[in-house]
Amino acid sequence: MSAVLPEFGYSPSLESTAPLQILERYGLFIGGEWIQPAAGGSFATVNPATEEVLAKVAFADATDVDRAVRAARRGYEKYWRKLRPAERAKYIFRIARALTERSRELAVLETLDGGKPIRESRDFDVPQASAHFFYHAGWADKLAWALAGPERVHPLGVVGAIVPWNFPLLIAAWKLAPALACGNTVVLKPAETTPLTALLLAEICAEAELPPGVVNVITGDGRTGAALVEHGGLDKISFTGSTEVGKAIRRETAGKPLRLSLELGGKSALIVYEDAALDQAVEGIVEAIYFNQGHVCCAGSRLLVAESVYEDVVERLRARIATLRHGNPLDKNTDIGAINSRAQRDKIRELVTSGVEEGATLIQASCAFPERGFWFPASFFTNVQPSYRIAREEIFGPVLSVMSFRTPDEAIERANNLPYGLSAGVWSGSGALAMYTAARLAAGVVWCNTFNRFDPSSPFGGYKESGFGREGGLLGLREYLS
Ligand code: NAI
Ligand code: MG
Repeated sequence: MSAVLPEFGYSPSLESTAPLQILERYGLFIGGEWIQPAAGGSFATVNPATEEVLAKVAFADATDVDRAVRAARRGYEKYWRKLRPAERAKYIFRIARALTERSRELAVLETLDGGKPIRESRDFDVPQASAHFFYHAGWADKLAWALAGPERVHPLGVVGAIVPWNFPLLIAAWKLAPALACGNTVVLKPAETTPLTALLLAEICAEAELPPGVVNVITGDGRTGAALVEHGGLDKISFTGSTEVGKAIRRETAGKPLRLSLELGGKSALIVYEDAALDQAVEGIVEAIYFNQGHVCCAGSRLLVAESVYEDVVERLRARIATLRHGNPLDKNTDIGAINSRAQRDKIRELVTSGVEEGATLIQASCAFPERGFWFPASFFTNVQPSYRIAREEIFGPVLSVMSFRTPDEAIERANNLPYGLSAGVWSGSGALAMYTAARLAAGVVWCNTFNRFDPSSPFGGYKESGFGREGGLLGLREYLS
């Protein structure tokens, strides 16, 4: 079934890569300078839509991690902790403005390195990253009033920030902006498949004349991250990524005098009641599961629909995914871009195969993909039992499991019946029913009749195995102050 006749299709509308200069090789940004890694190692980062190598990036080992942590400590002692808060704010405002001024470049780079549609990197990732710096710059000289206030507050010292590949620039901003505003210095470790916007952010920090060592960026994989966690010279670790690695970090840091916040995986529930505006609910579901190819920690990947409207919602969703445009992430018309890496594509395939084998019915958008690149079509499963792996495990791809329920309490019970608790969505025409439900869901964020609304002033974080600590807003500031 095709909703659009071919002659009324869209012409390609490719975003230009012309403003962007990608270097062949990148070093490490330590102590305000670009330096070579001690052992001289490097690795390639590819464009997941084409598999072409974009750049060679330095591999930081334990020696480089040590250099970065020492540089951050010097930056803290010598400059950052001594600056008047209002002066600190000026630097953070400068970074915020530079992110806006260079937004086109950043959006194109994010899309090339990670595969997300340009529409999303341009309209969501980069503006949100900039908004986080603007918001936190405003707090830098008002921190005494941020908590119970007015009271004396102190920075923690040196923060290790470990970031995943799904929102590389944005999650870096989530950690850097509050850390800097509160007077801390940072060692940032981006993910191995998406290091390039963090390196451009380092360049922006240098152009903003941030004092040396206040922000350091070291590239590498899980070994680099583990070396940072084990270093011993940090006062805080802020980690976003898989639950498995989050648990390993918690074990490693247990009993050590450092603060920890973890933002981990999820398998968030969407609840659609029979009195919901169903077309609006379907748009919310599409936003919840297909945004960023489903590579979203708070993705709504379990849909619970009231039995009386179940068939109706499934048919509307089937029709809607046929109109989603899969394709070149640089095309402004693309809704679903490339899967971030071969490993992630293989993980999605493996879980989808398990769903079919366990007995669920797979419904997919039909589209032809190029030979090269990593792709997966928008998909959902019906006939899902709550015990199936696709109903319990995080897939982190454009795959939704649809189930039905009979009463509000059953929907709530089933939504809460997993070890995760990051977000939830509720659709209902009744405010009372939406509020009744939201109050009973163990999720850090509950969106009603909408999904994926973000603002720097609104805290984000999880329950249970989705982690602890909050990012954004007043609660987020608390994570970087003592
Ligand atoms: P990951 O948790 O391995 O990677 C996240 C970051 O942690 C990267 O910067 C990585 O280099 C670093 N890292 C890896 N091992 C580490 C260690 N032992 N110590 C310190 N840092 C370490 O996630 P991965 O393997 O890329 O993705 C696997 C699955 O994790 C995904 O399929 C998805 O289900 C989930 N995930 C969840 C994310 C979220 O936002 N909650 C983000 C990324 C992945
Ligand atoms: Mg890449």
